Amino acid sequence: MELIATSAFGLEAVVARELQELGYTEQKVEDGRVTFIGDELAICRCNLWLRAADRVLVKIGQFHAPDFGALFDQVENLPWHEWLPVDAKFPVSGKSVRSNLHHEPTIQSVTKKAIVESLKRNYQRHWFQEIGTEYQIEVSLLKDEALLSIDTSGVGLHKRGYRANSGMAPLRETTAAALVLLSYWNRERPFLDPFCGSGTIAIEAAMIGRNRAPGMSRGFLCEQWSQLTRAHWKQAREEARDKALGKPTLSLLASDIDENVLRIAQSNAIEAGIGSDIDFKKMDVLELKTALEYGCVITNPPYGERLGDDESAAAIYDDMADAFGPLSTWSIYVLTSHPGFERYFKRRANRKRKLYNGRIECHFYQYLGPRPPWEKPRDVTSADEADSDAGDVTDSDG
Ligand SMILES: C[S@@+](CC[C@H](N)C(=O)[O-])C[C@H]1O[C@@H](n2cnc3c(N)ncnc32)[C@H](O)[C@@H]1O
Repeated sequence: MELIATSAFGLEAVVARELQELGYTEQKVEDGRVTFIGDELAICRCNLWLRAADRVLVKIGQFHAPDFGALFDQVENLPWHEWLPVDAKFPVSGKSVRSNLHHEPTIQSVTKKAIVESLKRNYQRHWFQEIGTEYQIEVSLLKDEALLSIDTSGVGLHKRGYRANSGMAPLRETTAAALVLLSYWNRERPFLDPFCGSGTIAIEAAMIGRNRAPGMSRGFLCEQWSQLTRAHWKQAREEARDKALGKPTLSLLASDIDENVLRIAQSNAIEAGIGSDIDFKKMDVLELKTALEYGCVITNPPYGERLGDDESAAAIYDDMADAFGPLSTWSIYVLTSHPGFERYFKRRANRKRKLYNGRIECHFYQYLGPRPPWEKPRDVTSADEADSDAGDVTDSDG
């Protein structure tokens, strides 16, 4: 069947690479989604494993819908009874972008009526009570093209279950994981986030370091569905447990100037089950000193938008230039929306990638250090490929 992994804009290539690594190579990458071919087990595995995706959907149909008549007729002709049992609860949510049909409540209600008509025909019933298992239907219109799908995830995949609390401007777990996946960090290399806030980047890195499936501590809407058996989930979860690695030799380092936020970070790390993998330290970025080499700084400093003002952000970037200057063998990765970042940091990035932190347009500045002597030359399936696939990457000459 056709499945869809949705993602934030800018992260599609990261999700595509994750899917490839899971073995789902037949895929189509579009804005905000990757469509791929998979079976029931793929639904379980993708929900458990995808780190940068928002949701996993089952695609039911796609067609041209310039008016409500076309929408109704084509929705009615889709095989809803193959998915929805007779007592299914099936709320419909709709969205429309640059389409003739734009009134979302009407799009939702027309879609719902058409599905009911389809079920009436197939189940020979006139009335559906909707007291059973939930199947969340999504109808999304883009340039008059309707896409009908059923959400398998329920709560968005960024909710891993470990972040009870956060600091003032936390990153989404999916974005934090994507930053790590876009970097050259691996469990053999030192890791540092000197503006760790609630610890999201370090926690996601620690889970990547242990090859731990991010969805292992949560449930998914489709676990109740009759199409997915207990055996599918058992197989996917056992497989994930078998693939998990032990604690890496090197501890990850996460620091912040704010003691209170560090306490939150620490309790989130414990909740995530990797509390002992990260050393948390109260520290101003200017105090940074390390004898370690070939590490990766992956960080999300204040932008001057949600935290502090523009000038104080500029002063912090200036401090970062001094603090990171001696780290000549390290690679530095910085996510910020501040347009003057490279100027204040006094270095042009080797690569920049446009990403969104919620609604804030940011760039992920990448300063690539030398390859560690113990690592083989980088192959084309590494972060480079995800980058070059993205289309929105600008290489600077740094
Ligand atoms: C954008 S937040 C980081 C959010 C984090 N990525 C998360 O997911 O929660 C920036 C953090 O930088 C910290 N900070 C500000 N100035 C600092 C400085 N000079 N040295 C170290 N940390 C600083 C703030 O306390 C704040 O927690």
